[in-house]
Amino acid sequence: MSQELWAAVEDYIDGLLVKPDPVLDAVRAASDGAGLPTIAVTPNLGKFLYLLARIQGAQRILEIGTLGGYSTIWLARALRAGGKLVTLEADAKHAEVARANFARAELAGTIDLRLGRALETLPLLEREGGGPFDLIFIDADKENNAAYFTWAIRLARRGSVIVVDNVIREGEVADAGTTDPRVLGVRRLNELLAQEPRVEATTLQTVDSKGYDGFTLALVAG
Ligand code: SAH
Ligand code: DHB
Ligand code: MG
Repeated sequence: MSQELWAAVEDYIDGLLVKPDPVLDAVRAASDGAGLPTIAVTPNLGKFLYLLARIQGAQRILEIGTLGGYSTIWLARALRAGGKLVTLEADAKHAEVARANFARAELAGTIDLRLGRALETLPLLEREGGGPFDLIFIDADKENNAAYFTWAIRLARRGSVIVVDNVIREGEVADAGTTDPRVLGVRRLNELLAQEPRVEATTLQTVDSKGYDGFTLALVAG
């Protein structure tokens, strides 16, 4: 089984369940056109995040890692009326492209993009009483996954949902001998999850046009 087949199945699913959306298409085109890496979530994962936020009835969402704002827009569209989304991005060019995309999606008033390294902007967010967030999506530098997860718990409430992207990395996550710092970041996150009594979590493997990867879903239960 190949990535070609996974991509064909993704197209088939999207063709029926994730209808063409001129705004999201323009957002992808603008991000690609500006030379951003093509690593945004797939459309069907974007819709999954949207559905999770809908199920959660989210009014406040936090995202770590904006890129061009593709996943951000999916999540923001799920907010209840008057809801807000805060998204954290370290790269000024990504932030500029994302802000233009939020305007394009008519979500500039709903999405608050904070430029800076997340480990620096998260304490500011806490100090200003930014939480609690109903849903937190972690999708930035994988080396800091465990630190971001600790911050997510801190900015959450009982019943909050935390999603972490890219936690399988072509299966390398299960290689105890890995030296890839991004994979080691995911393994540290898993060790944290294994001994963190406040959350219940599971991880799903995914195959699609981006290859073989997966995501972790956690509920702040305690
Ligand atoms: N969530 C996006 C993809 C994010 S890609 C989507 O699916 O559409 C990861 C992003 O995290 C990149 O834009 C990268 O610049 C950003 N990033 C990397 N290190 C960061 C850090 N320390 N703080 C905040 N953002 C960071
Ligand atoms: C990478 C980052 C992502 O967030 C993603 O979804 C895919 C790949 C990366 O840095 O390679
Ligand atoms: Mg990702």
